[in-house]
Amino acid sequence: MANPTGRPLAVVTGASTGIGYELAKLCAENGYDLVVAADTPLEEATQVLRSLGAEVTAVETDLATTEGVDELYAAVGGRPVEALLANAGHGLGRAFLDQNFDEIRHVIDTNITGTVYLIQKIGRDMRARNKGRILITGSIAGFMPGSFQAVYNGTKAFIDSFSFALRNELKETEITVTCLMPGATDTEFFERADMLDTKVGTEEKDDPAKVAKDGFEAMLKGESDVVSGWQNKLMTTVANVTPNEMLAEQHRRMAEPGTGEKQSSESSGEAEKSKQRGA
Ligand SMILES: NC(=O)c1ccc[n+]([C@@H]2O[C@H](COP(=O)([O-])OP(=O)(O)OC[C@H]3O[C@@H](n4cnc5c(N)ncnc54)[C@H](OP(=O)(O)O)[C@@H]3O)[C@@H](O)[C@H]2O)c1
Repeated sequence: MANPTGRPLAVVTGASTGIGYELAKLCAENGYDLVVAADTPLEEATQVLRSLGAEVTAVETDLATTEGVDELYAAVGGRPVEALLANAGHGLGRAFLDQNFDEIRHVIDTNITGTVYLIQKIGRDMRARNKGRILITGSIAGFMPGSFQAVYNGTKAFIDSFSFALRNELKETEITVTCLMPGATDTEFFERADMLDTKVGTEEKDDPAKVAKDGFEAMLKGESDVVSGWQNKLMTTVANVTPNEMLAEQHRRMAEPGTGEKQSSESSGEAEKSKQRGA
């Protein structure tokens, strides 16, 4: 199908909230029309994106399923996709042996299977036109074994690795692949992963608008990857030379249930001591 509005088209998954919503806003502000997807209603996000001048098609579907990805692909309607921002994903906290297997499978099917299926479908169309930009939301979680979020970190290690490999396969083409690797970001992620009683779930996090901006700009420049934030950049550099066993232990201290409570009782203890010191 020809391009009816004359504006380029971006597909953004996980655009109802968090990093994906901010990525979709950046696309709209930069003159893209949008096909956006999430597994809950997208009305609020769609209204905002339209107010920014984009023509928006919203698809409410479960991208953990091939049917869901097919539905999203059908909604593109053959229009050339200039930018694919494959961002939908979710975590799952707590000890692996205590997790529900359907939820484990949903993490893998969303973060890996649905993501690579969509990238293959839209990527083939991009190859036929020899044009396109792909931004994949990986994570710095891919650099470390994720005790008490073991499956999620494994999916992000897959995605980070996949992104660099696909980029290399496409290096002779005009298609760029960029991996956005955020650190802990202030979105609905930790609530959805049932991690609000953990240190990482309760401590200060990065602003999703800033994270999205870093990713969007790296995508426009065609860069291979971007780790958002200097502390996260430092963390990934150190992680590259730290034994995995040590990284897993560090992750336990951030993600084990109850570590958030320990932290808040430690900080309220500190506040009490400060009060006693008259600070
Ligand atoms: N927040 C962090 O600390 C962090 C750090 C590194 C990487 N990331 C990655 O960043 C991406 C975005 O996460 P976020 O932090 O923005 O979390 P979020 O606020 O929970 O947003 C996740 C988005 O993905 C959508 N989604 C999740 N599973 C889906 C499925 N099966 N089908 C369709 N849509 C689905 C959600 O839709 P609904 O709202 O409709 O469920 C939502 O729009 C994820 O890939 C995540 O792994 C996050």
